Amino acid sequence: MLKVHSHAHVLIPKSLSGFCPIYNNRVKNLGILLSGRGSNFEAIADNVAAGKIPAQISVVISNRADAGGIESAKRRGLNALVIPSKGVPREEHDRRVVKALQDHGVDLICLAGYMRLLSPWFVQQFPRRILNIHPSLLPAFPGLEASKQAFDYGVKVSGCTVHFVDEHLDHGDIIVQKVVPVLDNDDDHTLAARILEQEHIAYSEAVRIVLSDSFKVVGRRVVATAQ
Ligand code: GAR
Repeated sequence: MLKVHSHAHVLIPKSLSGFCPIYNNRVKNLGILLSGRGSNFEAIADNVAAGKIPAQISVVISNRADAGGIESAKRRGLNALVIPSKGVPREEHDRRVVKALQDHGVDLICLAGYMRLLSPWFVQQFPRRILNIHPSLLPAFPGLEASKQAFDYGVKVSGCTVHFVDEHLDHGDIIVQKVVPVLDNDDDHTLAARILEQEHIAYSEAVRIVLSDSFKVVGRRVVATAQ
């Protein structure tokens, strides 16, 4: 039997309700956490504005007042908050950030150059609802300056990874990866710049997959389910 969801007096097949937000009673809310320049945030915001991500950005939060991304969020007319982390105990800071995310009804959190490790408690508040982007093909080169680590190691390909956040650094289940070749005339900056271009594509792809609910996790493998 066809399962239906009721919305505005229209019967919507359950198979449609996952990937089209208006069929889900309300538009899904994204929360963005960043610490710096915010180019990944901007790529997501551009795709939201262009209707290519079926969601809205309900809040952008930085732990640093000088983050370029927070200025960009304000220019775009988004709710932009600075919740300083400097000198604040980790649990206290995490509590403030979680409260702000909950106050803004956030469904999915995107870490976009957020240079803080989330506490296990934070992660548990949003199970499989926090994404991170990392500029290497994980599990290679976790941690800081990943593209420089890869370049210095001498790898011939690198790239970027969007993954669910779990309690461990750069470790959760992988949603999207993009491969970037390392060219003989690269330096770590040119490589990082080409990886960043792919990050901007990969992050929106991953957000769409997660919002669509059209995946399952088998072991560590995130695989598509039939629509
Ligand atoms: C991006 O390259 C992102 O992958 C990286 O920080 C940069 C932020 O740039 N994140 C990490 O290294 C997390 N481990 P952006 O502020 O322009 O988006």
